[in-house]
Formats: sequence, structure tokens, C-alpha cells
Amino acid sequence: MPVLVRPENMERITTPALAERFIEEQIADIRAYVGDKKVLLALSGGVDSSVVAALLIRAIGRQLVCVHVNHGLLRKGEPEQVIRVFRGEMDANLIYVDAVDRFLDKLKGVSDPEKKRRIIGGEFIEVFAEEARKLEGIGFLAQGTIWPDILESDAGIKAHHNAGGLPEDLKFSLVEPVRILFKDEVRVVGKALGLPDGMVYRQPFPGPGLGVRCLGAITRDRLEAVRESDAILREEFDKNGLAGKVWQYFTIIPDVRSVGVKDGKRSDEWPVIIRAVNTRDAMTATVEDVPFALLSHITDRITHEVKGVNRVLYDLTPKPTGTIEWE
Ligand code: XMP
Repeated sequence: MPVLVRPENMERITTPALAERFIEEQIADIRAYVGDKKVLLALSGGVDSSVVAALLIRAIGRQLVCVHVNHGLLRKGEPEQVIRVFRGEMDANLIYVDAVDRFLDKLKGVSDPEKKRRIIGGEFIEVFAEEARKLEGIGFLAQGTIWPDILESDAGIKAHHNAGGLPEDLKFSLVEPVRILFKDEVRVVGKALGLPDGMVYRQPFPGPGLGVRCLGAITRDRLEAVRESDAILREEFDKNGLAGKVWQYFTIIPDVRSVGVKDGKRSDEWPVIIRAVNTRDAMTATVEDVPFALLSHITDRITHEVKGVNRVLYDLTPKPTGTIEWE
């Protein structure tokens, strides 16, 4: 049986050697626990599910079946990276599901943020369940639960998001190989497993993805604009040494237009809002003092390279009174 509770005297995994020891122990436990059954994993490409995938691939190879659902709300390049790293480099048994139209059709005309979240969450479970039912010999469901998830759900702070919502016929026994780790330890283990830095050190990204950053009813053109502007922001933060320093940074696109001028003509287009914040625990946050020249350069790139955008704003609001996301 897997260890469900972090032992009080467990040493913090801070070095490659400690990570290797953890990996070896997990591999032995996983092999003993799952035998020759298949294990199913929803692989989003986030840190936790990616580390779980890499660990299980080491332990049981193609007995792990990864399902990557592209709901159309991922950042630029993310689905491609999942395919490249897991199918290309790790020879994973990976099912890629292009569910973009399905999600965007369901979200059409829905502007209430909570309703958007419910649709995205519900549709994800449906797509995942449909894929799971096509498979034979699945005995286990793997999840990227980590120790803070357990602590927070025990403390009643947030419902434990994993496992919830799957239909009865798909309630498999769980395999949670990073369950007793803190986030920083998951990253050390991920690095030791050979995952690229872009995956291991990635900033937090909400489950409903760009859906919470494309405000109001999601339209394909504004969704594309938020994805492209986010990619420009990330590229510029990378180039200018801010990527490893700032805790979270992204763009938002509200559903209002304003008048502007482009190529000497009136343009009724959207603004893009930049958010860049630092925090320890996401409960409060301060705004990064991004150099003005860099903000100007990013503005120039976004207004010239992203279709439909004529203004860029920088959100100067700490949390509180703002939250980190806009939705
Ligand atoms: P707020 O906007 O509440 O965000 O200040 C705090 C942090 O939580 C992230 N966030 C989420 N993370 N699933 C997640 O895993 C979600 O649904 C979700 N919503 C917000 C947000 O990006 C920020 O880091």
C-alpha cells in the first residue's frame, strides 16, 4: 500500500541525491502496487501531473496511459510541449485529445465566471471519461495530488480538486506518487527525472486556463489575442531576466473595446492588461516594479503583433484589494 501521510521526520528533498532515493523507493512501491494493470493519468502538462507521468513512465513504462485534453484554453506551445516531451522523448503511451471546438462551443455566449468554470470542469471530466471508457485493462487512476492539497482540504480551505467528479464506473484505486511532497520537492524530483526546466519551473496556471483571463463570454479572436499577448510577455520576461524572479505574470483581455488609431485609421479594438505579481502563498500579493522601458517595449510588441489590440495597461493593484486573476 502507498504511503498516504507525510512522515513527521521526513527529510526535505532538496538535492538530486535525495530525489533519486525518493524516485527509487517510489518505483519499487508503484511496481508492487499496480502489478501488470494499466494506470490512467490526465496529463495537463502542469508541474504535478508531468512529474507523476515521468515517475510512472520510469516505473511501468507503457502501462501508464496518459490522456492530454487540449481544451483550447492552454498557453501557446503547451500541447505541443506535452507531445514532444512525453511522446517524443519519453516514449509515453499518450492519447492526445483535440477538444478545442467542443469546449469553445459549450462556452459560447457564457459570460458568468462561475458558470464558465463549471462548464470547463464538467466538460473536462466528460472528455476524460469518454477516453477512459475506450480503454481496457485500466486498474488505477494516477493523480498529481501534493501534500499542500491534503493539508488545505483537511483545513477546509479548498476542496481537494483531484478525483472529484469522475463517474462511478471510473472510480479506480488511486496512485498518487507525489502525495507526500511539497511543491519545491516535486520540482527537484521532476528535474532528477529529466523534465525540461520550462516544465519544472513553470509558474502557476489555473485549471480553467486562459478561460479566466478572457473576460466575459469567450470568443475565438479574443482568446487568440490573450494567448499571443501572453506568449510575448513570457518571451520578454525570459529575455530580460524576470522569468525566474517574478512569481506569476500573464495577460488578460476584457470584453470592452475602445477607440484608437492604427495606420492612420480609427480602430475599435481591445485593451490587453498585464499582471505581474509576487507572493509567498497567493493569499496576498505585491506588484512587480517592471522597468518602464520594458513595459513600453512589450506594449509596442503587443499592439503591433497581436491582432485586434490597440492598448496595453499595467495592473498596479496589489492583493488585496485585487485578486491575482481577473475573472
Ligand atoms: P486569485 O485570483 O484568487 O488567485 O488571487 C490565486 C492563485 O490561484 C491561482 N488560481 C488557480 N489555480 N486552479 C488552480 O490550480 C484554479 O482554478 C485557479 N484559479 C486561480 C491563480 O492563478 C493564482 O496563482
